Amino acid sequence: MATIDRSRLSGLMESETELFRSRNRRSAELHDQARHSLLAGVPMSWMTRWPGPHPVFVADASGARFTDVDGNTYIDLCLGDTGAMTGHSLPATVDALAAQAPRGITTMLPSHDAIAVGDQLRERFGLPIWQIAMTATDANRFALRLARHATGRRKVLVFNWCYHGTVDEALNVLAPGGGARPRPGNTGWAVDPDEFVKVVEFNDVAALEAALAPGDVAAALAEPALTNIGIVPPDPGFHDALRRATRDTGTILIIDETHTICCGPGGATREWGLDPDMFVIGKPIGGGVPCAAYGMTTDVAERIMDFVTGDDSDVAGIGGTLTANALSLAAVRATLGAALRDEDFAVAVPLAEQWAAGVQSVIDRFDVPWTVHRLGCRAEYWFCPPPRNGGEAAAAVDHEVDAFLHLWCLNRGILLTPFHNMALFCPSHTAADVDHHTEVFAAAVEALVA
Ligand SMILES: Cc1ncc(COP(=O)(O)O)c(C=O)c1O
Repeated sequence: MATIDRSRLSGLMESETELFRSRNRRSAELHDQARHSLLAGVPMSWMTRWPGPHPVFVADASGARFTDVDGNTYIDLCLGDTGAMTGHSLPATVDALAAQAPRGITTMLPSHDAIAVGDQLRERFGLPIWQIAMTATDANRFALRLARHATGRRKVLVFNWCYHGTVDEALNVLAPGGGARPRPGNTGWAVDPDEFVKVVEFNDVAALEAALAPGDVAAALAEPALTNIGIVPPDPGFHDALRRATRDTGTILIIDETHTICCGPGGATREWGLDPDMFVIGKPIGGGVPCAAYGMTTDVAERIMDFVTGDDSDVAGIGGTLTANALSLAAVRATLGAALRDEDFAVAVPLAEQWAAGVQSVIDRFDVPWTVHRLGCRAEYWFCPPPRNGGEAAAAVDHEVDAFLHLWCLNRGILLTPFHNMALFCPSHTAADVDHHTEVFAAAVEALVA
């Protein structure tokens, strides 16, 4: 079996960095200018996570491609880490924005689109009652607060190495002797996580049941499959056990479909027949315009209704001034009407299948002990056998090889998501895009292995 030649890797990194510099001179100048006023030369800290000495600056993006300020064009397999999963600047969304913007952007009153959006969410995702949030992070925060309010309990259960946005409760991992501790990189955390969080491994039914048994957990917050430490699928029966254990203990089950919407128009909840009490969706539903939503059963709605109708609904820790503004609602209405439908997944999922098959063919050709996983129109590769839970997945991350592959792909016109080795497909990608990736990936592996 072949292995990665680490001494070769550092030489390759040097030559790829040189190539990056020669291709991105204008981006380098702009990054230098940006340093005058922006922390680390970027408007948002994650933008330092891209490969190369600085990010490339985008000139324009459309469909599955974008062009940078140096004139390089890329096949975008990141798609704004799902925010642009519909393809960049979906025409229906752009038209709806152009129609609404001159007619008022935000008033803190409902617009006509609110009703259509509520109906679309209800039909698509199955839960009867909905609220809008600005981001999926917000939606998760609000869902957790409301679950605490509904149950009168303080604690929340999350899965090891999950990610649900910048949500305090979810930025914790399993401590070595059990219990919860802040995950590495969790900046400025405030409260001892053991006071309000329980963390268990994904797919560990015994640990899950033991954590819920005391009846002190307000909500279990889960992705249907972990997607943020690489893709870790649920074992057969895991979701039945999760539903049973939450129901038996009066724990509200919140399913966060922000990434797993890649499974189909109604997310994994519809594809796999899940039955959550609350449901969170963000990122692509506004075609890239900030907007998210959370749904609930009528039972949950009845239990929390007092907060909405009370005098303090504006200071309840739920909602926000710009939330559900007219522009976002117009974007969601147009996007859900024109994208993320069965016919869109019918194009995007086979592309992800083709991508995964291409990666597997390279793995087989070079005899490396790697894995490729696919979930709907998203796929990802690993430099190890398949991890079964977040802890195993985190232990398998190889930052050095990730960085090399990302830079290699970027220099050859392919943008991968900067976290892990993920590719996301939209209907604007083509089979030729996939073949280009397979060739580029094969050349990288050939350069890398001994
Ligand atoms: C599953 C999941 N939930 C929530 C979020 C948070 O989304 P946002 O950063 O748009 O708030 C993310 C972000 O990656 C996510 O992957």
